[in-house]
Formats: sequence, C-alpha cells, structure tokens
Amino acid sequence: MTRTPQFTMPALDAAQRAQSAALRKVLAERIEAGGGWIPFDEYLDLLLYAPGLGYYSAGAAKLGAAGDFTTAPELSGLFGACIARQCAPLLRGGGEVLELGAGSGALAEVLLARLAALGVAPDHYFILETSADLRQRQQQRLGRLPPELHSRLRWLDRLPAGGLRGLILANEVADALPFQCFAVTADGFAERGVALDAQGEMGWKERPAAADLGAELAKLASTLGQPLPPDYRSELCLRVGPWIGGLSAALDRGWLLLFDYGLGQSELYHPQRVTGTLRCHYRHRAHDDPFLYPGLWISHASPKPLRTLA
Ligand SMILES: C[S@@+](CC[C@H](N)C(=O)[O-])C[C@H]1O[C@@H](n2cnc3c(N)ncnc32)[C@H](O)[C@@H]1O
Repeated sequence: MTRTPQFTMPALDAAQRAQSAALRKVLAERIEAGGGWIPFDEYLDLLLYAPGLGYYSAGAAKLGAAGDFTTAPELSGLFGACIARQCAPLLRGGGEVLELGAGSGALAEVLLARLAALGVAPDHYFILETSADLRQRQQQRLGRLPPELHSRLRWLDRLPAGGLRGLILANEVADALPFQCFAVTADGFAERGVALDAQGEMGWKERPAAADLGAELAKLASTLGQPLPPDYRSELCLRVGPWIGGLSAALDRGWLLLFDYGLGQSELYHPQRVTGTLRCHYRHRAHDDPFLYPGLWISHASPKPLRTLA
C-alpha cells in the first residue's frame, strides 16, 4: 500500500528517503520481534530516538525556519531574558542550572549571558540531551561563549540522583516523551499499537489495554464527570509522572520549571475531541499519519493533561 499525504509535501531527497526506509526496516523488525504488535510509545521511542535514524538522532535541521517547528528560544532572546530575570534571586549566593533537552543551545546561550549580566552566573550550567546530534550542535554553538561562561558548561549523560541546588528547566521536552494511544470500545479500553498488514505496511491495531494502562484510564474516566463515548480515541503519557519524579529527586533545593503546551484535563479529554491530539510536524506543516515516512517527522500529542504534569 502506498501512503498518499493529504497535504502538499515538500519533495524528499534521496538521503531522506534512504533514512526513512532504513528506519522502517528497524521498526518492522521490532514489530515482528514483538509478536506482530508493539505499543505506540515503543514505536515512538524508535521513531524519535533510534540511533542515527530517529527524528532526534539523525542530522535533520529540526528546529527553526529551516526545520520543522519553532520554539520560543528560537524566536528571540526574550524568553531566556525573562527566565533570567525571574530566577536571578534564586541563584544569588551560588547555585546551578540544569537544562533538559536544550535543542540548538539557544536558551542556554541567552540564559548564561543574562544571568552573568545580573551578577548571578551559575556555578555550573548542566545540559542533559538525549540526541547526540543536538548535543554536538549545542557544543558548537556554545563554544562561542566567552571562556568565563563556557567553562561553566557540562553535558551530562544521565540525571543526577540528587544534590542539585538551583534550577532545573525544560522547554517543550515533556511533549517529546513517548506516549500511549487508547480507544474506548464496547469491551472496555483498548491500547492502540502498531502492526504490519499483509503487504508489510505499518498501521494501527488495537489490543485490550494492559493492566497499568487500563488502571490509569479507569482512574482518568472516574475523574472526568462524564463517560468517554464509544470509539473515542486519545493519548495518555504514563512516562511523564516518573520523569517528573526523577527531576524532583535530582533537586535538593530550588525550582523546577517546565514549559509546555497543555490543556486542562476536562478540555483535553472532552467528549467531542474524539480523535485525540496526535500530530506530526514536517517543515512547518502538520498531518496525522504517524506511519508516513517515519523518522522525518516529529510526532507528538500536543497537549499533556495539566493535572498529570502537576
Ligand atoms: C521540542 S525540542 C525542544 C528544544 C529546546 N528546549 C527548545 O525549546 O528549543 C525537544 C528537546 O528535548 C530533547 N529530549 C527529548 N527527550 C528528552 C529526555 N528524556 N531528556 C532530555 N532531553 C530530551 C530532544 O532531543 C530535544 O532537544
């Protein structure tokens, strides 16, 4: 089956087609190893982070006008300037900053310079970045900082178990965490995962929800006030809670600032939002077919329920 995009798609070059074909092979092998089906969060793990092939791991521009989407730090230095001004009192007398998922390094560049101008340059500015490609770009960009600021930078391979004093911040990282997809069926909750059809093409397939997802969905449904209608489809990120738990454990004293898009729970799971919020972004266009040219799109469910984030 050939998938036809329902929007005007910029032409793909040979390298992009080859990258996507190689990732498709890795995904098909994983689906076969999973007995013919994998949950959507596992699909996203590979789609976004497969070494050398996933969206964040391969060499595409990703951020900014030449990429697929834009973030506040990419637009101007105002975002970093506001954070610096707000957080300066916290860093008086010493402290550290840990930025998660620092993208192109734009926020780190502004924040370090602004904090220094306010007389509160952090003792260290740590960056934890899952993408080797972006980490390299951050190192290149931040290499042009003056030596007295550059010497404060450290890239981490994992989250510290504790001991941080100061500020942990992440802009648009929570929405990069892989999430699960579900449907409401006549038999209860189903998990929407990925399977191969007779032609070897990837597509949606449902299974009864596993115990952990089923329990979370039952908890969610009990708080909504009205039942989710039959055939309702949406997403749930079970990883966000443990992720925030790990961040707060890393912080001995200070602030955790997470910036992201979000809706209140009742808006996100409104009975009329029957097809969920999953969107795929490519060159500032959006579509909703996560199986089209895997690895070239950033795919995410835009909002995370704010109650889950809190
Ligand atoms: C949407 S981009 C945002 C980049 C940047 N913060 C900005 O605002 O421009 C998401 C970033 O998070 C990184 N990332 C995704 N999951 C992560 C995780 N679990 N820990 C740290 N970084 C992560 C990605 O590689 C990427 O740098």
